[in-house]
Amino acid sequence: MNISSVLQKEKLNKDDLIFLLGRIAPDELDQLYAAAYAVKKEWVGNVDYYRGLLEFSNRCIKNCCYCGIRRDNGEVERFDTAKEDILAMARWCYEQQYGSVTLQSGERQDAAFIDFVEAVLREIKQIAGGALGVTLCAGEQTKETYQRWYNAGAHRYLLRIESSNPDLYKTLHPQDGYHRWDVRKACLDSLAEIGYQVGTGVMIGLPGQTLEDLADDILFYKQQNIAMIGMGPYVVHHNTPLGKQVCEDGLDSPEARMERLRLSVNMVAVTRLFLKDVNIAATTAMQTLHPFGREMALKAGANILMPLVTLPQFRNQYQLYDNKPCLEDGQEQCRNCLSARVASVGDRVGWGQWGDSPHFFNHLK
Ligand code: 5AD
Ligand code: SF4
Repeated sequence: MNISSVLQKEKLNKDDLIFLLGRIAPDELDQLYAAAYAVKKEWVGNVDYYRGLLEFSNRCIKNCCYCGIRRDNGEVERFDTAKEDILAMARWCYEQQYGSVTLQSGERQDAAFIDFVEAVLREIKQIAGGALGVTLCAGEQTKETYQRWYNAGAHRYLLRIESSNPDLYKTLHPQDGYHRWDVRKACLDSLAEIGYQVGTGVMIGLPGQTLEDLADDILFYKQQNIAMIGMGPYVVHHNTPLGKQVCEDGLDSPEARMERLRLSVNMVAVTRLFLKDVNIAATTAMQTLHPFGREMALKAGANILMPLVTLPQFRNQYQLYDNKPCLEDGQEQCRNCLSARVASVGDRVGWGQWGDSPHFFNHLK
């Protein structure tokens, strides 16, 4: 196989995806990323959209083996953000002309939490006559809960499948009946049935993950008709079972990290080439592994940035992985810093627009 001929193909098959994902030579990577950026320009434009990311609570009933805010991590001080503070931040996002705000938290399924989120959503929708888009990212819920939150004003939902391979998923989660791939997949189906624009994604560079798994992840996005994709490298958190194992096995060397970053940028590029009109985030985890990780992703086809609007006093306690950047920055700094990043790759910011994935509407036609 030769990269130029694969990039010229009208339709890529699974072998092509695997081939492209595995490229490492600098000249081949240049070609791959340039091709993906051209597809981005043609299908979604060289405009990047902002989603203010508000991590409003780190309480979580789950125990994912990779995540720093897993239930059993006693080093973390748990926090909740008051409703008034969430609303103030949402208003700030609106005034800054961020098209939408993303409310993210750990997973809870108790009635108090469900009611709280519902009330917050209703009030956010009253800001500026419903002009601010709202995305939720609050884990697995019943279809009834998803419906309630949809009725209250959320119109997008992010739930990463983490890996489309159920066997790999098993190795990353406790086998206690609460961390089931099939349940997670059913949640994605429910969200789509309700009418949400659904986002999903995976972690990249996980121990035991193959290029074929990653190609299957991209095919999974297609099969599920996913509108938004958020994915990034797996990054070690020191106080997690997986993080400890990876360090013990010597798999967190600088070289290994750079490999995970490259693989992540390749995933962005190949996903853009294959799916064309979806929204793809340049995630913070990319920047954790390299100061210009997010720029690399934008250049390889990503078109969404998520500036942090989490209250500064809580940022330290929302660390899913080590060395998360931007912990010291206020929301002003995040805004200006990301705008500079967008300009540096030759894109512009889609201020004040929802920036819906064209895919969501194209597939309804
Ligand atoms: N490295 C990278 N991503 C992580 N996430 C959680 N822990 C880590 C980690 N150690 C991601 C998961 C989750 C999202 C909120 O954060 O994909 O779905
Ligand atoms: Fe909780 Fe999400 Fe972390 Fe899993 S990845 S422990 S569900 S916050």
